[in-house]
Amino acid sequence: MKKVFVTRKILPDGIELLRNKGFEVLVSSKDEPLTPAELMEKAKNVDAIICTMADSINKEFLEKNTHLKIITNYAVGTNNTDMETAAKLGIKIGNTPDVLTEATAEIAFGLMIAAARNFRSAMQTAERGEWKHFEPLGHLGHALLGKKLGVIGYGRIGQRLGEMAHGAFKMEVRGYKRGDDMNEFLKDLDVLSIHVPLTPETKHIVGIKEIAAMKKTAIIVNTARGDVIDQDALYEALKSGAIFSAGLDVTTPEPLVPTHPLYNLPNVIILPHIGSATYEARRAMSILSAENIINAFLID
Ligand code: DGY
Repeated sequence: MKKVFVTRKILPDGIELLRNKGFEVLVSSKDEPLTPAELMEKAKNVDAIICTMADSINKEFLEKNTHLKIITNYAVGTNNTDMETAAKLGIKIGNTPDVLTEATAEIAFGLMIAAARNFRSAMQTAERGEWKHFEPLGHLGHALLGKKLGVIGYGRIGQRLGEMAHGAFKMEVRGYKRGDDMNEFLKDLDVLSIHVPLTPETKHIVGIKEIAAMKKTAIIVNTARGDVIDQDALYEALKSGAIFSAGLDVTTPEPLVPTHPLYNLPNVIILPHIGSATYEARRAMSILSAENIINAFLID
């Protein structure tokens, strides 16, 4: 009987599917990611792994676990995995594209509205008992109707966000294409949303220079990976008012410690990486992870 280890508790649909197909499935009992040593130990006696982006599937791990047929990531992003080494060693790598497109685009859309309309500072005012009167000049934000949305990473999620923004707010949507002049692309955007995978090429794709090219009223949304933005440059720009606000579902590092200065800014909304966190998406991710494993064994 082939054994599968799941590094975190997940919605059970995929686990049931695997068991129905005759796999033995072991699920980590910890409510937090395993340490690298624990993961190494667990991997020894199994044939396949379902992991999350918190598990580092690095060269050392792969070289010590060449018996694994497949490691499938409970995420679309695979930046936690040394893909090159896995390919060299013949270990298949899976992920969960498509099924989380809607959920992640929804979070980007939500962050765009929340950042444009000052949800964070407005909520803080209410929660701190500072809501005394109707404020004719308080919490003024920017309307989205007819504004320009630029998307870096115009793939599945970026395009779906574009459809939502165009459908709801008639926003003019532009996708950045490799080779386009970045400053030209950024200079008159009202909202920038980033959806590229994290690779050496996309690390800090938005940095000091790019932020400086944007309008003072611009909003930046990031639901991709923290490192696609130079977070220090973003912090400075938000603090100085060089851009209006930001909505982040991802940070560097994750989790972002509560003492991090970004939390002190009223114009940034930070979510704890919940892009795919709908029942629908996570159920589908569970099933797709199982299917990745089933197919990996079928193909051989
Ligand atoms: C992904 O799938 O890469 C997401 O960031 C995880 O929700």
